[in-house]
Amino acid sequence: MKIYAIVLAAGKGTRMKSQKPKVVHEVLYKPMINHVVDELKKMGVDETIVVVGHEAHIVEAIVDDVQFVYQTKQLGTGHAVLQAKDVLAGKEGMTLVLNGDAPLIRKETLQGMVDFHKNNNNQATVMSADCDVTTHYGRVIKEDGQVKGIVEYKDLLDSQRDITEMNTGEYCFDNQSLWNALEKINNENAQNEYYLTDVIGIMDQDGLKVDAYKIDDFDEVGGINDRVALVEATKVLKERINKEHLLNGVTIVDPDNTYIGRDVVIGEDTIIEPGCIIKGNTVIGNHCHIGPYCEFTNVTIKDNVEIKFSVISDSIIENGVDIGPYARLRTNCHILENVHMGNFVEMKKAVFGKGSKAAHLSYIGDAEVGSDVNIGCGTITVNYDGKNKSLTRIKDKAFIGCNSNLVAPVTVEENAFIAAGSTITKDVEKDAMGIARARQVNKEGYSQVLEENRMKEFERRKNKK
Ligand code: UD1
Ligand code: CA
Repeated sequence: MKIYAIVLAAGKGTRMKSQKPKVVHEVLYKPMINHVVDELKKMGVDETIVVVGHEAHIVEAIVDDVQFVYQTKQLGTGHAVLQAKDVLAGKEGMTLVLNGDAPLIRKETLQGMVDFHKNNNNQATVMSADCDVTTHYGRVIKEDGQVKGIVEYKDLLDSQRDITEMNTGEYCFDNQSLWNALEKINNENAQNEYYLTDVIGIMDQDGLKVDAYKIDDFDEVGGINDRVALVEATKVLKERINKEHLLNGVTIVDPDNTYIGRDVVIGEDTIIEPGCIIKGNTVIGNHCHIGPYCEFTNVTIKDNVEIKFSVISDSIIENGVDIGPYARLRTNCHILENVHMGNFVEMKKAVFGKGSKAAHLSYIGDAEVGSDVNIGCGTITVNYDGKNKSLTRIKDKAFIGCNSNLVAPVTVEENAFIAAGSTITKDVEKDAMGIARARQVNKEGYSQVLEENRMKEFERRKNKK
């Protein structure tokens, strides 16, 4: 059976007090909407439709592989779902409807709801959980254990105020039955909105089979309506992720102060020290020692790598490399096996060969560096002339003396030697030495002359006062 999904993301999210739509606010460095859509992808649904409206372009720019439909006026969740009717009406299958503001939902739980829905031959299944009696969620109304409908908090009758079974905003419908029921909703309620929740009562009255799939973990389904809830969700997700890594054999020294994104993979016996933020599609291998205080975004790190106090993005680091403290790598760096990169080294778009070293204070940008190269302290690849970026090539076993400038485009061939303090503007051949600096002159006894000159000037100024 085909499974379709509709994600509601058109609302402004007034309570966020933000210029941006609510669903693009991030939980652990990933926008809420991406959390929801990614779980649907992992589940393997056949087609996902995202309903956008308020600042739609901002949502569209960050979500891939879905179809967007537009709700120009936010008239309620039922009205939002109706915007997907043209795409899905007439299709056979099952339609999941998910709130875009419940990012902690897991694919396993969604799959649980789908299985429950199928196994019980339901036409509608609402996911529910027990909540605190004071919270403002819609409530699932039951009679003799049978679901009769959902009532929004603002529309609850006094006799319904002690119900704690809440509507999570996640549903599974028989596709045709959903569209039939949506034809019948109206906006005669406390908020004058077209509520999606009304379809549950309508379907029950039409004699269709509706039921609730109640889950234990309220934290997974709480909707985020303000920034307080955003922080709480981040905390819950952080704890969940860190616990999974701990159980998978990763040592996290201080889980309270370690922020690991939902899509990050970490191998066994790797140690994560406090203060790390590891996000995006980062993959870390086995036996690595990471931190304290690293920030990684989309980094692939192989095994036995050691990195301290460093900021790295969009790069690959091979086995046995050691980096930091205070290194910065960005934009497609590829650091090969057993490299040593020390304090205050920055690399950008650089391939850095096996066993090569840049131990202190260097900028290596737009460069191809071979193996067993030594980059002396203070070396700079001069890659930018104010208009164009150019490439520096340093071949195997070359030695770059301290405080050298390599003005690109330029090539230093194999085993060449660059004298310290050189500004290299021409290629240096294999086995050659490149030296490019003024010759030193020593003036005998001149230190004394200088001293006398300085004294004279000092006296002159004093007498002037
Ligand atoms: C909704 C449910 C409530 C449930 C709660 C769970 C309804 C009427 N109520 O309430 O029963 O307990 O979620 O968190 O469905 N949206 C649109 N277009 C609109 C209105 C909303 O796309 O016109 C989107 C929002 O962007 C959001 C989602 O729908 O992602 C939920 O809307 P929200 O206003 O937060 O609904 P709640 O009041 O929380
Ligand atoms: Ca909500």
